Amino acid sequence: MKKKLLATFMTFAMTASLLAGCGGGGSVSTDTSSDTAAEETATDDAAAEETTDDAAAEETADAAADATAASGDLADKKVGVCIYQFADNFMTLFRTELENYLVAQGFSADNISIVDGANDQATQTNQIQNFITDGVDVLIVNPVNSSSAASITDMVVDAGIPLVYINREPDADEEARWEENGWNVTYVGCDARQSGTYQGEIVADLGLDTVDLNGNGKIDYIMIEGDPENVDAQYRTEYSVKALEDAGLEVNELDDQVGNWDQATAQQLVSNALSENGNDIEVVFCNNDAMALGALQAIQAANRTVGKDIFLLGVDALTEALEDIIDGTMTGTVFNDHFAQSHSAADAAINFVNGESNDYYIGCDYQKVTANNAQEILDLVK
Ligand code: GAL
Repeated sequence: MKKKLLATFMTFAMTASLLAGCGGGGSVSTDTSSDTAAEETATDDAAAEETTDDAAAEETADAAADATAASGDLADKKVGVCIYQFADNFMTLFRTELENYLVAQGFSADNISIVDGANDQATQTNQIQNFITDGVDVLIVNPVNSSSAASITDMVVDAGIPLVYINREPDADEEARWEENGWNVTYVGCDARQSGTYQGEIVADLGLDTVDLNGNGKIDYIMIEGDPENVDAQYRTEYSVKALEDAGLEVNELDDQVGNWDQATAQQLVSNALSENGNDIEVVFCNNDAMALGALQAIQAANRTVGKDIFLLGVDALTEALEDIIDGTMTGTVFNDHFAQSHSAADAAINFVNGESNDYYIGCDYQKVTANNAQEILDLVK
């Protein structure tokens, strides 16, 4: 019976996408396919017996409902937001901006509930169940483990609630499932390969002569990784080094450690690496700025000087990191645009609440930050 409804949905989806000219690129679609998809999640098997005529009649009814919702009051709608961990600098910027923007769009602050998963998937799964019981109109989830996305999606879709994933991208199979089933599920985030590439390019642009302080003809680096389960950590690690190689530079990895996005952990790891490898370390790549700030503490404690006898890179463009770049105590970072990401996530949630559909992947761009533009980015984020 489900198959029959799916076939009906596919017909509508195909017609709608043909009419829409199959446009992609992160834009919001107002086609009617999502209405049918939303119904699929919400209806029981008996409803699956409906004829195409019935479905068409419902389309008209839904269009009317959508029009009401679109012009109606978001203040009555409830949003549940699950953050993997409040004690994360970048996600703190993200969730603060998300809340402000949701309120600016018309949600009541009382109806926006943001919860801390405390880096524990079981805790977060409970929070999602509670939001379902509470009957939220839409869920925004920053998963603790991206690998739990399939079970989170099943739970939320079964409850007929639209879902916006943020920051930690589920894998390709999981994303394909949303599209295959026409579910009201999407992901909003940036492609971490770009951030890794930008880190490597900042170093490559300095040139071998500047960076190769020990004169062995290679870039000797250490890598401080974020949570290894996370594609952001995996891609930044891989693509920063790849960018050096693509620029024709030879690389030599002296150490690769997991700092779990955490400043204090990174400080300890870099301190150890500096004692073990001494002046051979020319570049410290950190998968994020929090860890780069910890690395800087270790570098300064070891009496090394960034820009003179060592180079330090992060990602995110935290205020403190930008100030360090301006002061010359950090080489560069990559702006992880929490404004664009939180606004896109909220816009996607609003579309779902209004009965409209979204693309299944909503991307954004990173931006390279060096001493040349750090002040400009600081003015933007402050
Ligand atoms: C990354 C960000 C890190 C950390 C991580 C959490 O995009 O650069 O600082 O917040 O997300 O998943």
